[in-house]
Amino acid sequence: MLFSKLCGLAVLIPLIHALNPITRRGKYLYDSVTNTRFSFKGVAYQQQGATANDPNDQFAEPSNFLDPLADSAGCKRDLPVLGQLQINAIRTYSVNSTLNHDDCMEAFNNAGIYVVLDLSTPGNSINRAAPEWTTTQLDEYISTINAFLKYDNVLAFNVANEVVAQLDVIPNATEAAPYIKAAARDVKAFLRSKNSTALVSYTSTDGPDTWRQNLFEYLSCDSDATSVDIFGLNNYEWCGDSNFQASYAGTEQTFSISTVPLMFSEFGCVTSPPRLWTEVAALFGPEMNQTWSGGIAFSYFPAEGGYGLVNLTNNNETVVTNEDFARLQAQYANLTLPSTPTEADAGQDVFSACPTPSASIWLASTNLPPTPNDEACQCLEQNAFSCKFIQTNSPQESAIVGELINTACSLLGQNNGSCDPIGGSGITGDYGAISFCDPITKLNYAMSEFFDITNRNPVSCNFDGNATAVPNAPSPTQAQAAASSCLANLAATFTPTSPATSSGSGSNSGPGSSGSTSGGFKTAVTVISLTWVVMISAGLWTLLV
Ligand SMILES: *[C@@H]1O[C@H](CO)[C@@H](O)[C@H](O)[C@H]1NC(C)=O
Ligand SMILES: *[C@@H]1O[C@H](CO)[C@@H](O)[C@H](O)[C@H]1NC(C)=O
Ligand SMILES: *[C@@H]1O[C@H](CO)[C@@H](O)[C@H](O)[C@H]1NC(C)=O
Ligand SMILES: *[C@@H]1O[C@H](CO)[C@@H](O)[C@H](O)[C@H]1NC(C)=O
Ligand SMILES: *[C@@H]1O[C@H](CO)[C@@H](O)[C@H](O)[C@H]1NC(C)=O
Ligand SMILES: *[C@@H]1O[C@H](CO)[C@@H](O)[C@H](O)[C@H]1NC(C)=O
Ligand SMILES: *[C@@H]1O[C@H](CO)[C@@H](O)[C@H](O)[C@H]1NC(C)=O
Ligand SMILES: *[C@@H]1O[C@H](CO)[C@@H](O)[C@H](O)[C@H]1NC(C)=O
Ligand SMILES: *[C@@H]1O[C@H](CO)[C@@H](O)[C@H](O)[C@H]1NC(C)=O
Repeated sequence: MLFSKLCGLAVLIPLIHALNPITRRGKYLYDSVTNTRFSFKGVAYQQQGATANDPNDQFAEPSNFLDPLADSAGCKRDLPVLGQLQINAIRTYSVNSTLNHDDCMEAFNNAGIYVVLDLSTPGNSINRAAPEWTTTQLDEYISTINAFLKYDNVLAFNVANEVVAQLDVIPNATEAAPYIKAAARDVKAFLRSKNSTALVSYTSTDGPDTWRQNLFEYLSCDSDATSVDIFGLNNYEWCGDSNFQASYAGTEQTFSISTVPLMFSEFGCVTSPPRLWTEVAALFGPEMNQTWSGGIAFSYFPAEGGYGLVNLTNNNETVVTNEDFARLQAQYANLTLPSTPTEADAGQDVFSACPTPSASIWLASTNLPPTPNDEACQCLEQNAFSCKFIQTNSPQESAIVGELINTACSLLGQNNGSCDPIGGSGITGDYGAISFCDPITKLNYAMSEFFDITNRNPVSCNFDGNATAVPNAPSPTQAQAAASSCLANLAATFTPTSPATSSGSGSNSGPGSSGSTSGGFKTAVTVISLTWVVMISAGLWTLLV
């Protein structure tokens, strides 16, 4: 069925069988076979999920998602319409790795459409208010990568979207940057271990000049191993009937010094309708094309605020396009993609020194969090705990785990114990010895510490019925020795491998820490950092008596 639709499509778009890998050279992207320069002529492709109804969430994070790349009928319906836009890329924000994506990915591939795929989901994102980089997060990212490695047209895996914020918007919000860099490092190492040439990106919200300059410099500094291959800016500066000078000149100046390939990972301001999409000519034209590798118009599907280019009618079977769509179509149709510089002239990839921290604008250590280590966390689970959380796998579990970490850490603090080993700071660059473990392992650590510090008084391992003492638990001394052994000689960074399908510890079950701002860990770490200085203690478990 899909095949017959694609045959029809061939009239619109040349049929290609396997898309060529796109590679980075200097600050540009090239087709690795034809050596021609690549620029994104794209559109965002995902229906909006419900937005979180959280008064503390000023970013209106979605609370769920619909996987557009698992919707074969939807892709089949949309391909001819996307074909009218003559795009070469879509961006998709969240997918479910357990579903089948063959139909959509093959159809897009055959239509010459690359995919920029975000790895985070509403239930699994680095949390800007309390960042961490854990086994849960890495394993879910790897599951998604494994589900998409077989598709030639995944151009980039995006490790996070709009996580790093300005310090004056959210206190300490730039400290998420080291966690993003660590995620890019581990995802890149994993991809290379699979011989994948897919690129790694981060997409940022827009902001003041110094902040956004520090951010793109930080994410592309120091070494290839710890840098993104593409930096995306979600940019909405060109509104209505504007021009380069009024809307983009400042941004162009700031970003022209970039050494990393850049894209507008979203564009299409709606505040002065109608959208004329005249920014397309500017972005791809002489004033900007030596700095930017194109962009992704937002959004194919309706999105809150009037960003949609189409509506679905007739039980979602039919697509209706609007005038915005027609104007974008005309602008994209009129484009000549930049062909210079040639690959031979693109120069070397450059990794400069990381930006210097400054108190009011940029606080981010260049000491990155370690690679999350499943084996170490499982070893702790099996050998080092005396009191454990009773898992229910309920939808509330992630929030309950966060609350219980708060409680256990408060109790520990009152008893001269410490949650330092499960905490960390992207500002100081200190990360607790088990800060990379999944939230439940962190909770089990805190509860076991409290249980032990109170001489295993049975009332200390209850937590309102959420915890149970481990039968035949090792003595505190044995537990300490076991923990030391689990954590002995851990490499700070290594090439991650695919998670085991069944985890004996249950450490991979349930959603991890929440989307970007809501849920358990935000509270947890807030309390931890208010109560204690989150620093690594001289040695793990030293406070255990
Ligand atoms: C992924 O899909 C599976 C199978 O339909 C479903 O059980 C699961 O809840 C989905 N996960 C997410 C995060 O949507
Ligand atoms: C990657 O390529 C190398 C060299 O061709 C090969 O030896 C190795 O088996 C490949 N690895 C994978 C995971 O395909
Ligand atoms: C891209 O920019 C260069 C340098 O300004 C210019 O010569 C070229 O014509 C531009 N390409 C397109 C397609 O506008
Ligand atoms: C979609 O429907 C809404 C509500 O009827 C309308 O305001 C909007 O213009 C429509 N968009 C398109 C793309 O047709
Ligand atoms: C159309 O699709 C949306 C999003 O997938 C879904 O919520 C809605 O129920 C669908 N409507 C019909 C009539 O199938
Ligand atoms: C098409 O592009 C050319 C060259 O960039 C430009 O001069 C012309 O105004 C554009 N046409 C439209 C309809 O935007
Ligand atoms: C905590 O340590 C301080 C100083 O060593 C001591 O005075 C206090 O009694 C201890 N409190 C508890 C609850 O052990
Ligand atoms: C910001 O981070 C620093 C260093 O880790 C910490 O001391 C401070 O308490 C944090 N501030 C807030 C508001 O979380
Ligand atoms: C577990 O902890 C949560 C959050 O502190 C609490 O609401 C709940 O009553 C506790 N007990 C059980 C059995 O869930």
